[in-house]
Amino acid sequence: MSDRPGQGVETISVADATQPLLMPVQPDIEATRALRAGLGAFATGVTIVTAFDADQPVGITVNSFASVSLDPPLILWSIARAATCAPAFAPGRRFCVHVLGAAQESLARRFARTGGDKFADLEWTSSTHGTPLLPGCIAEFHCSVTACHAGGDHTIIIGRVHAWLAREGPALLFHRGQFLALPSLGSV
Ligand SMILES: Cc1cc2nc3c(=O)[nH]c(=O)nc-3n(C[C@H](O)[C@H](O)[C@H](O)COP(=O)(O)O)c2cc1C
Repeated sequence: MSDRPGQGVETISVADATQPLLMPVQPDIEATRALRAGLGAFATGVTIVTAFDADQPVGITVNSFASVSLDPPLILWSIARAATCAPAFAPGRRFCVHVLGAAQESLARRFARTGGDKFADLEWTSSTHGTPLLPGCIAEFHCSVTACHAGGDHTIIIGRVHAWLAREGPALLFHRGQFLALPSLGSV
């Protein structure tokens, strides 16, 4: 054994033993599932993005929504290239982002199913911005697609906000694969 510290001696620090393993990113199903679970540590709000596609209303539950710029007013979200409603969000198309309230989990689940008529039996209307409008959300952002960027198996959509509104009320959240209702808090 060497006299010099750290040589020939296997050192296991307490930190090494207690830290979670750093996961390598590998292109197999198990690793992809693990990465998705890891990304689920990031808590988000929940939105439904709607548009018209050849006069038919389409919509998708989305938690990749984020603000980008105030001047000009831009937002972004990403859509799976495999989503059936993806063609409705081509450059120049109008769309509406509905930020869901705490009581709208069933609506989020409905729009997270692929294909079919997600608007059947719903009280939706046509907005003056040319988009399907869902009732009861805590904010609406009426936008048009200004750019689409390739992002692996998703397309990153940049939208310009033309009009918006926000209402009082607690938000619906998504964390580690579960919907959660944000309790009503006083304003800060
Ligand atoms: C909480 C939550 C957030 C989601 N966020 C996104 C998202 O940001 N982008 C996306 O493409 N799909 C997202 N999805 C999945 C879509 O909602 C789902 O694939 C939907 O069925 C696609 O609809 P379509 O194939 O009818 O177009 C999310 C699902 C859930 C439950």
